[in-house]
Amino acid sequence: MKSHKPIQAFPALDLHQLFSASRDSDPLLSGDRVRRYASGRAGLFHIIKSLALSAGSIILLPDYHCGVEVEAILRAGCKVDFYRVETDLSIDLDNLSKKITANTRGILAVHFFGFPQELSDLRQICRRRDIVLIEDCAHALYSQDEQGCWLGTKADYGLFSMRKTVFMPNGGAVRVNRKGFVLPDKGKRYFDLSILKSTVKSALENETRKPGVLADVSQRLLDLYHHHTGISAAASDNPDDDQRWYYDVAAYGYEHDISAISLACASGMPFQNIIIQRRENYAALEKLLAPRFGGQFVFPALAPGVCPLCFPLFVDQRDELALRMTANNVLPFVFGRLPHPLLQEAVVPEPKALAGNIIGLPVHQQLTEQDMSVVAAALHNVMKR
Ligand SMILES: Cc1ncc(COP(=O)(O)O)c(C=O)c1O
Repeated sequence: MKSHKPIQAFPALDLHQLFSASRDSDPLLSGDRVRRYASGRAGLFHIIKSLALSAGSIILLPDYHCGVEVEAILRAGCKVDFYRVETDLSIDLDNLSKKITANTRGILAVHFFGFPQELSDLRQICRRRDIVLIEDCAHALYSQDEQGCWLGTKADYGLFSMRKTVFMPNGGAVRVNRKGFVLPDKGKRYFDLSILKSTVKSALENETRKPGVLADVSQRLLDLYHHHTGISAAASDNPDDDQRWYYDVAAYGYEHDISAISLACASGMPFQNIIIQRRENYAALEKLLAPRFGGQFVFPALAPGVCPLCFPLFVDQRDELALRMTANNVLPFVFGRLPHPLLQEAVVPEPKALAGNIIGLPVHQQLTEQDMSVVAAALHNVMKR
């Protein structure tokens, strides 16, 4: 059952959309309180730098993370400590409160997979103790909370990694919400050939999914690329277990500005369509998976306003399953597989359960209801074995 084109976890570059007339003004990332960077990690690095905190300052992060957030804070000169995330991915406020000390200067709250955290109590704690609150929306671009507020607008800072929601060879952003807080410094200008290469590759991958001659030409060019690099079509370009490599992707550098190519890629994105299509795909997959996997959904329902990054599901032997899905040409999103070494030193059961057991199935805006059937069939197929 590998007759279909690879279904990627994240969108590819759609040249047609890029040159189309539609130009919605972005509700979150426009205006003079926003600065763009090469990545979310670069945004976080620059936030921490701009706070000019004294030596020994601590930033609290969730124990379920991908590691680069931790690394950004360490590289910006602060210490870190971790608070517990419940298995429903909400913040364990009791545990977090116990972790606050006189040295705690900041807290990072993550809206996992696009689903909003309840922040009102945390905001009060932060105000009372004069702690900076950063809303990490790396998974949650264009998601809203129950009151219809965009995620990333309620804490002191909103942090974004746009490249996960729309195709960009690199791209993150910081939004400063609190009056009196300054915009962090600009990143350093940066360009390398991998930025151009990944853009061209993505555009070709997108063309192969469409009917017509261009699809054949694109496929031939991609085959040549895969032949010369030795990288298979369904694999990502990333070496699998190399944590150092993971922290040090040049194109997403901690000090770097966003590339001009990324700015061009982002300019034509009709954000309303992104939200609608992701929600439709999520709902279609929910229906297809509910009879057999309903008890394994990470979130019991798709609340109004949520723009899902993927469809997260609890599974056993996640890494093995992810490999089998990839072999079936459906590439899942795996988050937090390699927690930061500082966390690994502490023995905490929940993050292992979260980091090792959640798989994110693709629902992005370039996929259709038909693709959702393929995703569901692939999951049923790999679960049979
Ligand atoms: C929750 C979270 N925050 C921040 C980041 C950093 O974003 P970027 O990869 O753009 O540096 C990531 C990256 O995967 C993430 O998953």
